[in-house]
Amino acid sequence: MDMIVANDRAELAGARQALGVGGAGGGTLALVPTMGALHEGHRSLIRLAGEHADHVAVSVFVNPLQFGPGEDYARYPRTFEADLEVCAAEGAGVVFAPSAEEMYLPDRQVSVSAGKMGTVAEGAFRPGHFDGMLTVVLKLFNLVRPDAAVFGRKDAQQLALIRRMAADLNLPISIVGAPTVREADGLALSSRNRYLSPEDRTAALALSRALFAGAELAETGRSTPGEIRRAARAVLDAEPGADVDYLILADPATFAEVGDDHGGEAVLAVAARVGTTRLIDNVVLTLG
Ligand code: PAJ
Repeated sequence: MDMIVANDRAELAGARQALGVGGAGGGTLALVPTMGALHEGHRSLIRLAGEHADHVAVSVFVNPLQFGPGEDYARYPRTFEADLEVCAAEGAGVVFAPSAEEMYLPDRQVSVSAGKMGTVAEGAFRPGHFDGMLTVVLKLFNLVRPDAAVFGRKDAQQLALIRRMAADLNLPISIVGAPTVREADGLALSSRNRYLSPEDRTAALALSRALFAGAELAETGRSTPGEIRRAARAVLDAEPGADVDYLILADPATFAEVGDDHGGEAVLAVAARVGTTRLIDNVVLTLG
């Protein structure tokens, strides 16, 4: 069957029916939410989604609610025709691509709050971002009604918050995390990488280099969180083209910074501005 493109909730309901999703003996559906400008990272999520359900839905929606004033909502890359080709090539059954008017009522009032965890790390630099992100993800869940949803670990705090929302609000959806896809030289794939000039592209490598330096120290099993942070910070400080917003070693479930007595998993996460582009990346380490 040809891939269905649905632009509103009626077309989406029709697509669910055409695919035979839900109901008695019906097939299952996995959702991959995206903002489009699809790259190999998104492709890997669509493929993974196919392992978790009979059918895959991809949503393509640049969500105005999760962009702050002065952020890149207007210039965010929009490559819809190419995105449709990617979705079809990876076997998606339906692409849901609503307009902003379809998604948001003009008199809307109620939204999701990310709580304290939405105000630390990435949330401290992007006030309201995680509230807007969770609000659109919950709306997409209610519209698409998937059995499972796949998110990248590239956006580790986003994934942790979506897991938190699923637990706190009793969402009947299993949340699947997918590994970060990188270029051969370490740069994590991102829709925003296309903003990077050749010089920026070189400077941007400091992010993954710093994280890998921290990970290497952690692997010795003898380094404290402080030492790991300092080793990663030294790599970033040596790159004048990267302006660091934060570099943290945090609990992957709460994003609170870990103390020197922390054992087990921790996430080393960085955000930096390179030229006019803001990039984030992270790796998960085992401490102690
Ligand atoms: P977007 O940035 O388009 O990312 C969509 C999904 O792709 C997210 O789950 C993200 O973590 C994942 N992803 C991005 N780069 C990746 C990489 N290099 N490797 C693996 N996965 C990667 O994240 C969003 O959109 C939005 O916040 C959204 C969840 C759609 C809500 O608007």
